[in-house]
Amino acid sequence: MKRSTVKELLRATEKDKQVLLKGWVRTRRGNNQLAFIAVNDGTIIHNIQVVADLASFSEEEMKRVTTGSSISVIGTLVESMGKGQNVEIQAKEIEVLGDSDPEVYPLQKKGHSFEFLREIAHLRFRTNTFGAVFRIRHALAYAIHKYYNDKGFFYLHTPIVTASDAEGAGAMFRVSTLDPKNPPLSKEGEVDYSQDFFGRPTNLTVSGQLEGELGALALSSIYTFGPTFRAENSNTPRHVAEFWMIEPEMAFYDITDNMDLAEDFLKYLIQYTLEHCMDDLEFLNKMVDKGLLERLNFVQKQPFERKSYTEAVEILKKSDKKFEFPVKWGLDLQAEHERYLVEEHYKRPVILTDYPRDIKAFYMKQNDDGKTVRAMDVLFPTIGEIIGGSQREEELDKLQNRMKEMNIPEDELWWYLETRKFGTVEHSGFGLGFERLIMFITGMSNIRDVIPFPRTPGHAEF
Ligand code: 4AD
Ligand code: MG
Repeated sequence: MKRSTVKELLRATEKDKQVLLKGWVRTRRGNNQLAFIAVNDGTIIHNIQVVADLASFSEEEMKRVTTGSSISVIGTLVESMGKGQNVEIQAKEIEVLGDSDPEVYPLQKKGHSFEFLREIAHLRFRTNTFGAVFRIRHALAYAIHKYYNDKGFFYLHTPIVTASDAEGAGAMFRVSTLDPKNPPLSKEGEVDYSQDFFGRPTNLTVSGQLEGELGALALSSIYTFGPTFRAENSNTPRHVAEFWMIEPEMAFYDITDNMDLAEDFLKYLIQYTLEHCMDDLEFLNKMVDKGLLERLNFVQKQPFERKSYTEAVEILKKSDKKFEFPVKWGLDLQAEHERYLVEEHYKRPVILTDYPRDIKAFYMKQNDDGKTVRAMDVLFPTIGEIIGGSQREEELDKLQNRMKEMNIPEDELWWYLETRKFGTVEHSGFGLGFERLIMFITGMSNIRDVIPFPRTPGHAEF
């Protein structure tokens, strides 16, 4: 007999038929005659109830049906008389596939803290919350590819190992095969990376953008979707050292086209989850964040506010709020400032543009005022910055000047500069932090709980 998933069984219209179920026992209760076994196989948040008449089963086998064990059940799918479920399985055969000692199984019926569950990240998938989060994570990954595919964008695989350190998005992780105890040295006593694997110093990438631009300047519209790495020692609920980023890059787009795309994209992803993941969202709305569904619906319907960095600084300066970090034109905004603008002042998502050039990357399009660049950050409730992007500087001389000012060696980026020599065009792009998006959509408040195995300072266990 072919195995049916719990999802298929709970949605089956045809009753009173023989089915084969396999899954993990969540709970078992009952009396001397009957056992009620809640089985979950991860395909859906709900369990299916298996009812076993103990008289027809071997006592030995039934003893082994405990929380955490895996079982295979053959039985009849029937309408349930009990409360809480529409259907259940009247078991005819039960086989224990894998035992689990309930005395030491770490997941007990009582709720566990997310901190504790992080220590057992290998088992936390078996909880309702993490099942929901990772099913939603999957749905969003799929929706992202669907969105861009439907729009005619091409998925471009940009490299993970890179020799350029120019983006300036953060400290990098070195990639090397040299013996750390005995590296080859130059005459000056420095490590000689010309003898390293790639013949030069290399790192894990902080972003696929620069290579993404090369693709867009031939294919019109591309996106990357891959892991990126930042070696900052920041222990916040919004930073991990390894995260996934979606980076669309579009030729012939200016900053307004870029903002329109970012807003449409985010709304599409929220709508997609509302349409396809309601079971999981309802669970999270009940158990994790009571304002979740309301917030998702609200953001999905509202136009985002579009303001300049300069206007935002004025508003922050005028507010009575006591901020931990100073507010002054020229300083970068902190999460507390971003959240004030979104949650208290505008009360909706905000796209800020035209940031001071000194706090932004070299590649951003310079405005005529000589002070600001055509950057755009999308700020979200509860999250702060969810997207960072810009129109790119497509004029060769301006780009070269900026690189000189910032001490970025041209020979490291000769290939990037060539796109500005041969048929340069206006273009734009942005990066969406995948985990920040999932935080927003699931209501989970710590980024470590939306990536299966988080990498943070001091943590790389699983
Ligand atoms: O603002 P960032 O640094 O922008 C870039 O990397 C550009 N190259 C993107 C582009 O224009 N193609 O990062 C983009 C987004 C942030 O808005 C945030 O959502 C996320 O990536 N992000 C992180 N997420 C988790 N942990 C970290 N340490 C993150 N750093 C950035
Ligand atoms: Mg940024």
